[in-house]
Amino acid sequence: MEVVIAPGPTLARLAADAIERLLRARPQTVLGLATGSSPLAVYDELVRRHDEAGLSFARARAFMLDEYVGLPADHPQRYRNVIESEIASRVDLAPGAVQGPDGNAEDLVAACAAFEQAIADAGGVDLQLLGIGTDGHVAFNEPGSSLASRTRIKTLTRQTREDNARFFDDDVSQVPTHCLTQGLATIMSARHLVLLAQGRGKAEAVHQLVEGPVSAMWPATVLQHHPHVTVLVDDAAASRLQLADYYRETYAAKPAWQGL
Ligand code: GLP
Repeated sequence: MEVVIAPGPTLARLAADAIERLLRARPQTVLGLATGSSPLAVYDELVRRHDEAGLSFARARAFMLDEYVGLPADHPQRYRNVIESEIASRVDLAPGAVQGPDGNAEDLVAACAAFEQAIADAGGVDLQLLGIGTDGHVAFNEPGSSLASRTRIKTLTRQTREDNARFFDDDVSQVPTHCLTQGLATIMSARHLVLLAQGRGKAEAVHQLVEGPVSAMWPATVLQHHPHVTVLVDDAAASRLQLADYYRETYAAKPAWQGL
């Protein structure tokens, strides 16, 4: 696990660099897209490179991490719509190139299975962007999630619904109670995981993710078992890391050719 501690704009650039390198080497790259505020600066940077440097997504595919259950199709906070407005519609991703679990399907169990199959049929995800919840969730794998889980229905914790109420007029009662989410094992199948976290509110979750014991109580800790994880954090999110100085020294001494 590589930990990079840097200011927010640098983190967004690093994540965009990794995605750009993949797309330039293999235009049919399969990306894993995350919602939440953490990846937004990465999307802005990718859009800039698309507009100014000819970075093309035309042959790429993308899979979403999760989706709320039961939000109306045109609801702005439906994750499919969020991904559409934050990235897909701003670059040249082909129509239908982004797939997510269908939170409005009549048969939600079948929708989860179909989504897993679509990822497998695409050959798996090359690079998965991730955020982290204050309770250590990734995608919507809340504490207690099986470390071997695949895409399924989950109940959101009160904490997550309160955290996400800011997107629903600060009214927690408007935040759906259920979601479909890639499981932890689904996420672990991606070839490179890039997790972004900023702000003091994420410091404990980041400490647990990087330095805590692997436990379903802090679902993100399962990432310690992945061979290629990059954790991109600002000073505030890194403020509880015991080995922060070591991570800083390691990154400062890293050869420029190595990439993430
Ligand atoms: C939501 C999403 C997660 C995201 C988390 C953190 O719960 N399902 O994928 O990582 O929020 O969001 P933010 O980046 O806004 O802090």
